[in-house]
Amino acid sequence: MPAQTISTQPIDGQKPGTSGLRKKTRVFMEPGYVENFVQSIFDAIDGAAGKTFVVGGDGRFFNAEAIQTILKMAAANGAAKVIVGQGGLLSTPAASNLIRKRGTDGGLILSASHNPGGIDADFGLKYNIANGGPAPEGVTARILEHTKAITEYKISDAADVDLSALGAATLDGMAVEIVDPVTDYQLLMEELFDFDAIRAMFASGFTMRFDAMHAVTGPYATAILEGALGAPAGTVLNGTPSVDFGKGHPDPNPVWAKPLVDMLMADDGPDFGAASDGDGDRNMILGKGIYVTPSDSLAVLTANAHLAPGYAKGLAGVARSMPTSAAADRVAAKLGIDAFETPTGWKFFGNLLDAGKATICGEESAGTGSDHVREKDGLWAVLLWLNVLAKRGESVAAIMQDHWQTYGRDYYSRHDYEALPSEEGDAIMSDLRAGLADLSGQTYGALTVASADEFSYLDPVDGSESHKQGIRVFFEGGARAVFRLSGTGTDGATLRVYLQMYMGEGGDLLQETQAALEPVRAAAYEIAGLARTGRTEPTVMT
Ligand code: G6P
Ligand code: ZN
Repeated sequence: MPAQTISTQPIDGQKPGTSGLRKKTRVFMEPGYVENFVQSIFDAIDGAAGKTFVVGGDGRFFNAEAIQTILKMAAANGAAKVIVGQGGLLSTPAASNLIRKRGTDGGLILSASHNPGGIDADFGLKYNIANGGPAPEGVTARILEHTKAITEYKISDAADVDLSALGAATLDGMAVEIVDPVTDYQLLMEELFDFDAIRAMFASGFTMRFDAMHAVTGPYATAILEGALGAPAGTVLNGTPSVDFGKGHPDPNPVWAKPLVDMLMADDGPDFGAASDGDGDRNMILGKGIYVTPSDSLAVLTANAHLAPGYAKGLAGVARSMPTSAAADRVAAKLGIDAFETPTGWKFFGNLLDAGKATICGEESAGTGSDHVREKDGLWAVLLWLNVLAKRGESVAAIMQDHWQTYGRDYYSRHDYEALPSEEGDAIMSDLRAGLADLSGQTYGALTVASADEFSYLDPVDGSESHKQGIRVFFEGGARAVFRLSGTGTDGATLRVYLQMYMGEGGDLLQETQAALEPVRAAAYEIAGLARTGRTEPTVMT
């Protein structure tokens, strides 16, 4: 019998974070590490027997090996079928789409998202449920319990499956279907967006650059932008996925995608620029001479989504994570639709999308998406922007200025202090928590604290509660600072400080962002006692 039962014991630290289990690649490569976690997933969902799963990843180092392990474990646990992307590749939104479209029981996605790849970089593994979305906290808690109690796992000792050829294969009696990673996703995009209008815009000389950052969106962007939409060859940059993302950091923000930003800031730059991350769920949007913050992008897309066929009948509601700026709420108020505020983590949008309460969702962390899948979707955001640009016939800068004149502007930036010692990160948060009650009325430079609290969420659909989701300090006059520790970092603690300041329609809407936010930054630095870090500057500003 080729299926074997192997004795094992619990491995510490297999707690799924904001988006699955993220660790250094070498940790994942330790004997039994992947096996323990995958068996714990199967055990947490009452076994894999008779079930169908989607499996794929962003192609980073160790993707191919981990997929073979998962296939052999699925077979040994009695799964009926696994659908895998050719070469083991599937972007996160494409995996979400396949889970839904094929009515499968769930999926395993291998990625550490925007974190670098390689043997000395990061790896990750996440379980998504049958709605296509990340496992909710109830499921991840059960997975954790199983990782702490595991005594054995099951694995087939059959040979590896050749994932390079499309079509049907078998592994120890389990069906394996190897699909083109792009086909189904592209069909979905063609249903949602006005490809004819976008094609006509490219034909009339509109120029763009899409930076795939050597990651998974290369094949998707090449097929859709340069193929179906007729953008000239060379529109997609860094379009061939590599195991270490060209030794880069596949995070589409102004720091890690600086070459693209520089291109868009040049006088002779293209009309539009965009980038996506390692696994294709994040996006960055740029126009000639302008960077659009993710919070503003969510607001503009909410205001203009009706211009795309998939959203022509309007939106049910919009949802954003708490640290995301309130710009989208202002649009929702004008449209007369609901606005929801959730904790950080795409999984919190799942219930709102399933219940039809929200149509579009977004996060400050470069995530935007809709009810078409249950993950955020980088290329979807790019295509919706292209659809809006094609229909409005205006530049990105003109659309932004019009937006701010209509709704006012939420100046916004996130300051990250990366790789702090974990104890220091914890101490900053516990000191903030301890001082919350005394903050109101205190003055920091030009700003006075109006109120402060720690964010809790009551899910309006299933009634579940999530506590300790970030500390919020509201200042008189409408500014806000939020503090939380990242749940996706793999190196010590990353403190995220989110700064926001609202300027109404009549105010100065064209200030430089960091300059506009300086009073909030200074107050936040003092309130959190960040001098103790010895840092005067954040590691990254988005
Ligand atoms: C992932 C999740 C997002 C989340 C982001 C930031 O990308 O999918 O939903 O906003 O991580 O998480 P962090 O805990 O690092 O701030
Ligand atoms: Zn990602």
